[in-house]
Amino acid sequence: MVQITFISNGGMVATAPENSNLLRVSLKEKGGIPFKCGGGLCGTCKCRIEEGLEHTDAIKPKERKHLRPEDFEAGYRMACQTFVNGDIKVSWVVQNGKGIVVGAPADPVQAAT
Ligand code: FES
Repeated sequence: MVQITFISNGGMVATAPENSNLLRVSLKEKGGIPFKCGGGLCGTCKCRIEEGLEHTDAIKPKERKHLRPEDFEAGYRMACQTFVNGDIKVSWVVQNGKGIVVGAPADPVQAAT
C-alpha cells in the first residue's frame, strides 16, 4: 500500500494499492484534487508532487500538452494521468475557497493580528 497526503485538503492522508491512479484515489477517498474530464484533456487536475516525485510513473504525452518542461521539473503532474507506486504528498491551487494554497503569501489581515 502507498500513502498519499493531500496537502491542499488539510493534509488528509489516504492509502491505496501500489500503481493506483492519483485522481481515482482522490475521488474514492475525497482527496479533493480538482478535475473535469478525467481523461487528460482539460488540464484541470494539474497538481504538484511536493514529496515523492520519484514514486510517480512516466510523464504521458497528454501531460505535455498542458505542462511545460519547467513545470515537470518543479514536480507538476496531471493527476488523471499519474500513477503512484510509493508514498507521495500532493498539493494543488485551490479555486473554490476551500483548502490551502501552498506557497501563497500569508493573509496580511491575519498576519497582522
Ligand atoms: S481531469 Fe482533465 S486532464 Fe485530468
